[in-house]
Parts: sequence; C-alpha cells; structure tokens
Amino acid sequence: MKKGSIVISGASEVVTCSGFKGKSGAQMQDLKVVRNASVIVEDGIITRITTEPLDLKGFADKGFTVVDATGKCVLPGFVDSHTHFVFGGYRDEEYNWRLNGVSYMEIMNRGGGIVNSVKGTRETSKEDLIKVGIKRLNSMVGFGVTTVEGKSGYGLDMETEIKQLEVMKELNKLHSLDIVTTFMGPHARPVEYKQNPDAFINYMVEEVLPVVDERGLAEFADIFCEQNVFSVEQSRYFLSEAKKRGFKLKIHADEIVQLGGAELAAELGAISADHLLQASDEGIRLMKSAGVVATLLPCTAFSLKESYARARKMIDDDLIVALSTDFNPGSCFTESIPLLIALATNQMGMSIEETITALTINGAAALDRADQIGSIDIGKKADLVVHEFPSYRFLPYHIGVSTVEKVIKNGVMILDKQYDLPY
Ligand code: NIG
Ligand code: FE
Repeated sequence: MKKGSIVISGASEVVTCSGFKGKSGAQMQDLKVVRNASVIVEDGIITRITTEPLDLKGFADKGFTVVDATGKCVLPGFVDSHTHFVFGGYRDEEYNWRLNGVSYMEIMNRGGGIVNSVKGTRETSKEDLIKVGIKRLNSMVGFGVTTVEGKSGYGLDMETEIKQLEVMKELNKLHSLDIVTTFMGPHARPVEYKQNPDAFINYMVEEVLPVVDERGLAEFADIFCEQNVFSVEQSRYFLSEAKKRGFKLKIHADEIVQLGGAELAAELGAISADHLLQASDEGIRLMKSAGVVATLLPCTAFSLKESYARARKMIDDDLIVALSTDFNPGSCFTESIPLLIALATNQMGMSIEETITALTINGAAALDRADQIGSIDIGKKADLVVHEFPSYRFLPYHIGVSTVEKVIKNGVMILDKQYDLPY
C-alpha cells in the first residue's frame, strides 16, 4: 500500500472525531472540531493537527503534497462496516415486487431472495467479480469511504464461499480502499439443504470454516439469525465454533422478527450485532453491558419499507451505535452514504454529530480497528476526506448529494473532484 506525506492547510473545520475506542451514548454528540486548522501527514500517518500558520513552501520543498482547504471541512474517511459488495447478478425484479407490496420474506419463501444471488455468484468468474468489485469500490470512494467490510455468503458451498473471500483478498491488494473480510457461509438455506438446515450448519462448521481459517481468508464470522433462516441455537453453535478458532463475531440480528439475536450477540461477546430493527429492550440492555456495537442499517429498512431501528433509545441507553450501508443485491442495493445520512438524521432522530460518529470512530469500533482508523488523531492512518463546504452541517443539509471533494488514503490523494467555475 502506497503511503504519502501531505499537508491539508487552513480548513475551516477539522472534524477530528478524536478517540481510540467506540463512543457510546452522549459521547457520540461531541465531534471534537478544531477550527481554522491544518493536518500534517508523514508517510501515511497523521503527525500533527495545528492552528499555527505553516510554511507551506517549506513543506512543498520537502516533497509534501500541499492541499489548500480554506473554506472547507475535513473529516476522517467513513468506515462502511457492513456490506455484501461481492456478488454476481442482480435482483431488480424482486425490488419491483417489493415496491408493489410483496415482502422480502415472502419472496424468500417463494424460492427467491438470497438464493438467486447465490446462483448468480456461483456462475460468475473470479475475474469478473474482481472487475465489478473495483467499480463498486470506486463508487464508495466517491462517497468518502476509506475502509469497507465485505461478507461472503453468496456461495453457500465451499468453492464459491472461498472464491468470494479470495476476490476480496485480491481487491484489498489491487485497490486503495482497505477491505475487512467476513465469512458468512450461513447466509441462507441453500436449495440442497432446504429441509435440513442443521446438516448445512454442520457442513459449514466441519468443512468450510476450517479451510477459511487455515487459509486466513476472513477476520470475522457472521450468520443470518432469522425466522425460517437460522435459529438462535444454530447461530450459537456456528458462532461459538468460529470463536473457538479465533474469528471475531458479527451477527445479523432481529432484522424481521424478534428472535433474540441481540441477546445472543451479548452472550457470545460479538464485536457487533447488526440490523436490530426488532431488538428487545432486554437485548439492548445486554448489548450495552457486553460492549457490543449496535450497527444500524437505515438504507435497508428504507428499501424493505420496514420501520427503522430504535437508534434514539439505543443512544439514550448509552450503546455504541454505528451506521453502515449494508450494500447488497437484494435487501439494499445502494452504497450511498448521502442517502444513509439523510435517513439517519431526518427519519431516525439522530443528530448529524451522532451520525458522523457512527460512520467514523464507531464504524471502526465495529471492525475492531478504533485504535487505527476512524478519527483524526496523531498516530492514526491518514484516511481523510475534504468536503467542499465549510462545515460538517452541510452533510445532511445538501440532501442526498455527496459533499466529498478529495479523498486521501494513507496520505495519498486518491480522488480529487475539485473543479473551477468556468466563469
Ligand atoms: O443484511 N439479511 C440478510 N442479509 C442481507 C441481505 C442479503 C440479500 O438480500 O441478498 C442483509 O440485509
Ligand atoms: Fe447484511
């Protein structure tokens, strides 16, 4: 990974989100903004944040890239901590059925849904998945994302699960974005095991998980704990076996039906529990005491026409709340951070300060990386985004439109959308 040295000078706001672990409750409101400040990066690492005037020519002479951020704000790169971005084929027809009132679970029960993407992904070559993966990652960079998590789970067999994870490993080398990989073999009941989900879980635990582990293909393990998909008992077994092997845990929990996924996440010490539209009060309480990050996915609730997760209660109950896109071909075909910000601030009762915390330091916490990324702090990776407006308050205000102007990854400028007005 290339590393650069850069000075971003005179920003009207440096929104540091300062901190080295996830922020809970009221802490989420404090973005620790430094006004009229510059950020200095050496060899990919943030080394100074200052309000002092700088000798910019001196920096340029020493080989630093110099960026004038006058009238602009600088934020940490966003961390999209929950996506399924490697998949083959699309499900546009299903989305139209949903618009016409057919539910996500009804489509699944009729034999559609995730298994359709499984077919598409099994049939798509590794090379083609890499090509389309690059395109999707480029789009995320345009929204200011600098680290993304990606899950397998569109294979449901050894060959394709491994193929998806290898694609992400390859993309991590080819693309400047950092990719964190999650093994999600138990994402749906495959047609071959429709009537026998226990046997499928055993296959995943006994045959696929050991290969993923031995080959170091994933850092996290995840499962879709949902009525008519995998029960709490099946989820407990799969995740416990993954934990024994050293995988960190995530869980798709209480998305459609209140099954007890939040409680299970707390019991197993998962790093995050995700979705949580139906999480119980007790589940929320247990997640708080176990320090599980609550990852909320508003674009999915929007796309499924479901009610949003209870973000306000979770923050008021002092949880660490993260926000993520859940980009996937079925329940949420969007990687749009501006849409996510619009929904969180306008529909879920989150302030823009809480929303930014949830997309930066708390997204990093959901990936167990809050000590390395997610804030503008000395010693952290220089993943920085210059937004075209003077304040972070423009992010929700410019509704549904990206305010990103420049993206800096490891101190290297990887995107610059700045333009001069023609007259
Ligand atoms: O997070 N809920 C399960 N998994 C994905 C949906 C995947 C799909 O529909 O393809 C989710 O929403
Ligand atoms: Fe998901």
